Amino acid sequence: MIPIHPMRVLITGGAGYIGSVLTPTLLALGHEVTVLDNFLFRQSSLLDCCQYPHFQIVRGDCRDEAVMKPLVAKADLIVPLAALVGAPMCNQDTVAAQTTNLDAVNLICRLAGKGQWIVMPITNSGYGIGEKDKHCTEDTPMRPISLYGVTKVKAEDVVLQRENSVSFRLATVFGMSPRMRMDLLVNDFVYRAVHDRAVVVFEGHFKRNYVHIRDVARLFVYAIDHFEKMKGKPYNAGLEEANLSKTELCAVIKNHLPSFVYLEAPIGEDPDKRDYIVSNARLASTGFRMEWGLDRGIQELIKGYTILRNCVYSNV
Ligand SMILES: NC(=O)c1ccc[n+]([C@@H]2O[C@H](COP(=O)([O-])OP(=O)(O)OC[C@H]3O[C@@H](n4cnc5c(N)ncnc54)[C@H](O)[C@@H]3O)[C@@H](O)[C@H]2O)c1
Repeated sequence: MIPIHPMRVLITGGAGYIGSVLTPTLLALGHEVTVLDNFLFRQSSLLDCCQYPHFQIVRGDCRDEAVMKPLVAKADLIVPLAALVGAPMCNQDTVAAQTTNLDAVNLICRLAGKGQWIVMPITNSGYGIGEKDKHCTEDTPMRPISLYGVTKVKAEDVVLQRENSVSFRLATVFGMSPRMRMDLLVNDFVYRAVHDRAVVVFEGHFKRNYVHIRDVARLFVYAIDHFEKMKGKPYNAGLEEANLSKTELCAVIKNHLPSFVYLEAPIGEDPDKRDYIVSNARLASTGFRMEWGLDRGIQELIKGYTILRNCVYSNV
């Protein structure tokens, strides 16, 4: 299908977990996509995209002005996904976290002309510890705790200060991607439920919010199609019906895998202290509807984990 106005889209970090679903989605719709990625995980997740003549790939670093300048110059829309993602990874290399998550976004904003569009995801972990039973809206002050949260919230400030930008404050993403991430909460718990049949949960009552990766890809497409009405604002993006605690999430997984056992013990702490309920009303008011609930995503993950197994040092 060729869209009425095919866009020239530059995605940094487009070979990552989200990018590996978003990139083929945009290509299939007829958009011209250039991905800039340093292939940090040696991932081969975009091989299936190479069939498209309107797909370009650049191996490089999003922090390198010489690389970025010509790429930004020919884009109508820039989607900065390149980042060190998650608090543990940022804490391992705090300098790279700052330069990749924040300085590289500053660079894009400096290089981009006023008329060029930027649509960027940040994390709703920026809400930190929420107030009991009170929904976080986009007007709730962001109080990120980890370096990851701080760099993402600052990057959003930079992006929203310019014209023609949209930010999505994503809930924890779940679902299968050609560059799989099993460190994400739902993906992790379902993997354990499929292969270990058990999980020990810490901070089990902490409430989190979830969104499926295919809905995230649909959301970017929606932003392209409704840009004029959406620009200039941040949008929370998560499943309205899935403001669930970790233990409640385990119960949903158990509905699909009845032999799954989950126990609670104080074996860890979330570096982001994520415990909040989120309102997604602003996004819903634009007309966007999620299509992937938790049950549908868990069924997908169970199939995916029949294929994927972390068993390099095992005979079976
Ligand atoms: N997955 C989630 O739950 C979630 C939630 C909220 C926001 N986000 C945001 O979405 C974006 C993508 O996240 P993801 O889950 O796909 O993570 P990911 O780690 O799979 O993707 C990051 C990509 O960036 C690339 N990259 C890293 N450093 C780079 C550099 N210096 N130059 C070029 N490429 C580089 C990596 O190779 C990878 O392909 C991030 O900005 C993240 O903060 C993700």
